[in-house]
Amino acid sequence: MNDADSVKKTAFVSLRVFVVLMVITGLVAGAMAFGVTGLLVTVFQRQQEARNPFMRVVEITDDTVDSVVWGMNFPMQYDQYKRTVDMVRTRYGGSEAIPHTPSSSDPRSETARSKIEMNPRLKRMWAGYAFSIDYREARGHAYMLEDQSLTERHKVQQYGNCINCHGSMYTVYKELGDGDIQAGFEKVNPMTYQEIQKLVDHPVGCIDCHDPETMQLRVTRPAFIQGIRDAKAAEGIEDYDVNTMATRQEMRTFVCGQCHVEYYFSKDESRRLTFPWHKGFRGDQILAYYEEIGFKDWVHKETGTKMLKAQHPEFEMWNEGPHGRAGVTCADCHMPYMRNGALKISDHHVQSPLLNINNACQTCHKVPEEELLARVDRIQGRTAEMQDLALEGIVELIDAIVAAQASELPVEQIEKAQQCQRSATFLFDLVEAENSTGFHAPQEAARLLFKSMDYLRKGQKALDGTSVEEEQNPVEVPAMETPNSV
Ligand code: HEC
Ligand code: HEC
Ligand code: HEC
Ligand code: HEC
Ligand code: HEC
Repeated sequence: MNDADSVKKTAFVSLRVFVVLMVITGLVAGAMAFGVTGLLVTVFQRQQEARNPFMRVVEITDDTVDSVVWGMNFPMQYDQYKRTVDMVRTRYGGSEAIPHTPSSSDPRSETARSKIEMNPRLKRMWAGYAFSIDYREARGHAYMLEDQSLTERHKVQQYGNCINCHGSMYTVYKELGDGDIQAGFEKVNPMTYQEIQKLVDHPVGCIDCHDPETMQLRVTRPAFIQGIRDAKAAEGIEDYDVNTMATRQEMRTFVCGQCHVEYYFSKDESRRLTFPWHKGFRGDQILAYYEEIGFKDWVHKETGTKMLKAQHPEFEMWNEGPHGRAGVTCADCHMPYMRNGALKISDHHVQSPLLNINNACQTCHKVPEEELLARVDRIQGRTAEMQDLALEGIVELIDAIVAAQASELPVEQIEKAQQCQRSATFLFDLVEAENSTGFHAPQEAARLLFKSMDYLRKGQKALDGTSVEEEQNPVEVPAMETPNSV
């Protein structure tokens, strides 16, 4: 348009030039208008394409488990999804390929870094448990099934529904349950890992997060459907149904919360995969719940203490942090919008946002990349320092309990110290197992580590005989709301 305006201003100089120029201008304007319209049409079509599942290259149904087929209709999302094989380190996260010599039992030529080799004190903390045999850094979604099936933790018999969070389970549950995913889920719970493994071929796929008709997000894991119902019930909201009652914004977190959460397997014969949110999402509320049901994951090999293991509570921690509070979802940072030509799509290359600061953070924080990295680094560095101190204290308490057991110390003093070992280790482990090194909820991570240290102090005092009368049960914390329910 600027060109056309300036052409008009000079046109009066000569009629001939004017006429010639007007013809050209008309052509240019026409061409531009045509071009713009053409673009709008494609944008409109593509938007329709994203929204309208009926404009398809191939038919996808509620049984299409293979993401390759979905990829024919949604090639951009599929291309990004495939990139979860990439391995790039960040200071505290990301993933790094470690060369591995393939063997008949483990054909991988690369694995992730071993957390217990990097920090051998963890082996003592988990002495007697499968995590002291093999525990590695998480890597991309493409590896979830193979990494689970090849971990040396299988030296101890593992549960069938370990696979709930490591495979594309929607169609498997549906088939086993004759169309009912809840029934299929109940069938998988009592199986051994080896039994169910034969029926699962894919890592998490399109069908696990999307309805094939509408492409809307959906929750497909019965453990989450029940878990969030329990959490809502604790707030006084009965019969919560996540798939009909959650907002679209909440779903952008809940689809991830199906797997990135603390869990346990019930000790009765159902062996049901359960999320321990009956008292709330905070670490000490989860601990209080485990105390109430008298749960243990394993018995510590050195001290004989009945122990609890925490795993990947990203969802719970996010819920306590500043971004969770502000309604910033997992997808906002880990699957941010990206440009693809004229289109905005969700980046299906789920990864560390620190490898993608521009799209993941700078949409909201208008500060330079180095500054954002420095802010994250401060949070993570401080958390790592606190973790280090707490872990040192845990090892010292183990030493002290072992020494006390070899002496004539009254048994109730030792039991009190063991109770402290149990609580301190679990609270510490919630931060250790949480994969953001404090970023998702800096103050909450610090609070849990501080409470862990408090239990360690009390454990040592119990062995000194100076605090036998002190209250050792976990403190009840008032209930907190579930995400975004302000
Ligand atoms: C405000 C942005 C933000 C939100 C929201 C967020 N995360 Fe993160 N997440 C991060 C950052 C930053 C890290 C640290 C990455 C690193 O150290 O490389 C991280 C780390 C992680 C990691 C470990 C990644 C790695 O490469 O080691 C996982 C897993 C994770 N987040 C899952 C989640 C889940 C699940 C949610 C929602 C419940 C969530 N995150 C919400 C920013 C976010
Ligand atoms: C509630 C979902 C869930 C269940 C159930 C689950 N996992 Fe995972 N698993 C995850 C998530 C999320 C990660 C990635 C984050 C991490 O490594 O902390 C992961 C990572 C792993 C890894 C790679 C990192 C490592 O720990 O070496 C292995 C191996 C693994 N799981 C094995 C198992 C086994 C064995 C079971 C059953 C006892 C199990 N998982 C049950 C969600 C789950
Ligand atoms: C772990 C969950 C997850 C998986 C697996 C997944 N998606 Fe998505 N997808 C999302 C989220 C989150 C969004 C954003 C939806 C929203 O904001 O409503 C999304 C959005 C989309 C959209 C809407 C347009 C856009 O890009 O925002 C399409 C199309 C899509 N995904 C296709 C796919 C395809 C194809 C696959 C398999 C190759 C797939 N998705 C796998 C979580 C997932
Ligand atoms: C079906 C369960 C499942 C769902 C759903 C799921 N994840 Fe994961 N996620 C895993 C497992 C398992 C791993 C670890 C895989 C491995 O180490 O082999 C993982 C790894 C990751 C990593 C680490 C990647 C890396 O390179 O280090 C991030 C980040 C992550 N997930 C974020 C998310 C986000 C965000 C969502 C929701 C959009 C999500 N996940 C949904 C199970 C799941
Ligand atoms: C959708 C918007 C949004 C995105 C995306 C986002 N943030 Fe934030 N961030 C916020 C809001 C809102 C707050 C809360 C503070 C406030 O209200 O001003 C916040 C707070 C923070 C804080 C202060 C934390 C604290 O403990 O007080 C840091 C650091 C931060 N963000 C870093 C990041 C990084 C790094 C990323 C990318 C991985 C990111 N943010 C992505 C909106 C966002």
